Amino acid sequence: MTKTILRALAGETLPTPPIWMMRQAGRYLPEYKATRAEAGDFLSLCYNPELACEVTLQPIRRYGFDAAILFADILLLPQALGADLWFVTGEGPRLSTITTQDEFDRLGRGEMIHDTLNPIYETVRRLRSALPEETTLIGFAGAPWTVATYMIAGQGTKDQGPAHALKAENRALFEAIIDRLTESTVDYLDAQVKAGAEVVKIFDSWAGSLEGADFDRYALEPARIITAELKARHPGLPVIAFPRQAGEKYVGFHAASGADCVALDDSVTPEWAAEHVQPGGCVQGNLASSHMVTGGDALVAETRRVVEAFSKGPHIFNLGHGITPDANPENVQLMIDTVREKAHAAS
Ligand code: CP3
Repeated sequence: MTKTILRALAGETLPTPPIWMMRQAGRYLPEYKATRAEAGDFLSLCYNPELACEVTLQPIRRYGFDAAILFADILLLPQALGADLWFVTGEGPRLSTITTQDEFDRLGRGEMIHDTLNPIYETVRRLRSALPEETTLIGFAGAPWTVATYMIAGQGTKDQGPAHALKAENRALFEAIIDRLTESTVDYLDAQVKAGAEVVKIFDSWAGSLEGADFDRYALEPARIITAELKARHPGLPVIAFPRQAGEKYVGFHAASGADCVALDDSVTPEWAAEHVQPGGCVQGNLASSHMVTGGDALVAETRRVVEAFSKGPHIFNLGHGITPDANPENVQLMIDTVREKAHAAS
């Protein structure tokens, strides 16, 4: 029997949508916090195949999700290209900035990224042999624009101001960064697939701040190139694109990017997305992650609403964004039970 996630990605409408959750291995789980403490810090955890494999498996054991997502981070790629990367507790990532041609010229390219990223591929290999046979393994990378926003600013920003400023002031340098990231992302995901990832997801968390032609050039076009190149190397490889907060630009994104599935955040309603986006192919999402904190009747009602709205086409149930550290693990179970209740009632 083919895995349910792969069936949905191939366009099949299933009676119960398969389910996984962004950031399913994370600080809301006590067992994650324990393993992270054992590793020392977040980056040591990412680069330790044994422990990274363990935290990837924790939510699979606890909840039986239909997919596991490799435990790593989108900012490991800039690190592999030569940027300094560290995490400030309670604040988030910090990187050495790339805002001048000189800084850009010091970045690496090509095969050299694998020197740093080899432990990640080892985690993928271990996962493929450790996962239950019905569970799909998803690899991932950040989209060039989103990764560039962190490389240019040196940290997360509310409005991606520094990246927009560089794009306005030195378009050639900005485009060189996007092109370098596009090329390296292909090599990084290619290596993940060779190690055993069955699906890849491209996270463009800040796609929503690109307007008009900029969206097409810096969100859509890199996604199209990465997808086409990976599919040329790995025929039939399913690709999930997540141009977060794309709004109206979600419409037609499947066809324009070549992605098999488009992940939806929670700023669009499931009814609108079912009518305008799902005709293009499988959709994933879009329950507000705040329900994992608040729970109760609203969680059940909104979960049913998402399942119902997308029930006439291919759908993978997920949140609209990552689960947050203040979420209650019991609410995750309630969401899963609600998604699967139709199946339970029928059996
Ligand atoms: O989804 C998963 O469980 C797989 C692993 C994963 C992580 N980050 C682990 C992580 C994935 C797919 C990511 C993607 C990621 N990382 C994105 C894109 C998706 C999104 O959330 O929009 C971005 C923008 C990043 C960069 C990043 N990593 C930030 C801004 C932060 C700090 C914010 C925070 O939540 O602490 C991280 C840290 C991070 N990445 C954690 C985890 C589990 C928390 C680290 C910890 O244990 O302290």
